Amino acid sequence: MDHETIIIETRGKVGLITLNRPKALNALNSQILAELVSAVSGFCADPGIGAMVVTGSDKAFAAGADIKEMQAISYADAYSQDFFAGWEEFTRARKPIIAAVAGYALGGGCELAMMCDFIIAADTAKFGQPEITLGVIPGMGGSQRLTRFVGKSKAMDMCLTGRMMDAAEAERSGLVSRVVPAAELVEEAVKAAAKIADFSLPSVMMAKEAVNRAYETTLAEGLRFERRLFHSLFALEDQKEGMAAFAEKRKPNFTNR
Ligand code: CAA
Repeated sequence: MDHETIIIETRGKVGLITLNRPKALNALNSQILAELVSAVSGFCADPGIGAMVVTGSDKAFAAGADIKEMQAISYADAYSQDFFAGWEEFTRARKPIIAAVAGYALGGGCELAMMCDFIIAADTAKFGQPEITLGVIPGMGGSQRLTRFVGKSKAMDMCLTGRMMDAAEAERSGLVSRVVPAAELVEEAVKAAAKIADFSLPSVMMAKEAVNRAYETTLAEGLRFERRLFHSLFALEDQKEGMAAFAEKRKPNFTNR
């Protein structure tokens, strides 16, 4: 697939995807969705890639779903096409994805960042769910994921007033894992992804699966699920290698892909 709305690069074992619709502040239209999903599934299928980074521009990670594409949609079309359901494909990626966010991450932009496994924010980042100002509500997960990230009170505040949250508030609230200077954003995110990509890939994928399960199930079921995954890792060469390397005081060389 040719990609017109994203730029795809590899940095060692890291797949770097840059949203690239600068004139529309990376507004998320159906083309960008299709290209993003194709890029992510390509990286997931590539045994040389261990983790991904999705980023935007200095001004905008993404300023939301494309309002101009959306404005004429009828209820019948929205319902019958299950509008926005295509984003579920993005969340099915089994390798980790870090969102590197500078500038605006609004509406679908904030929701896309939250679909990633964690968010590294530039000190310029601004998060918000302004759909209410357009006469709608979040439709790509904002009311659900934001509530799980920051709790009911702040999620209600964001979804009902449409106000923006700066990077410091986002870090304080647990929406982002770290804040870095804007000039270092992509480098820091790629560095974090490279670190992940050097670990045992099955362990990384299972860690992602286990943490995600915490959002879907009870504590007792989640703990049982985690333990079963943990047990299964003892079937892999990487567990032998990782523990032998520790005992022998050397760097492990993980080979399971
Ligand atoms: N969709 C389509 N186009 C968008 C867009 C969006 N979400 N956001 C910005 N653009 C376009 C603008 O229309 C403008 O295009 P033109 O030059 O052709 O007019 C261009 O990007 C630059 O934008 P501005 O001139 O508005 O830039 P600014 O610096 O003055 O303001 C902003 C920046 C505050 C982010 C402002 O652009 C804005 O408010 N954007 C919309 C934010 C928004 O409401 N997002 C939610 C969308 S709905 C949604 O996401 C639903 C969902 O749940 C998935």
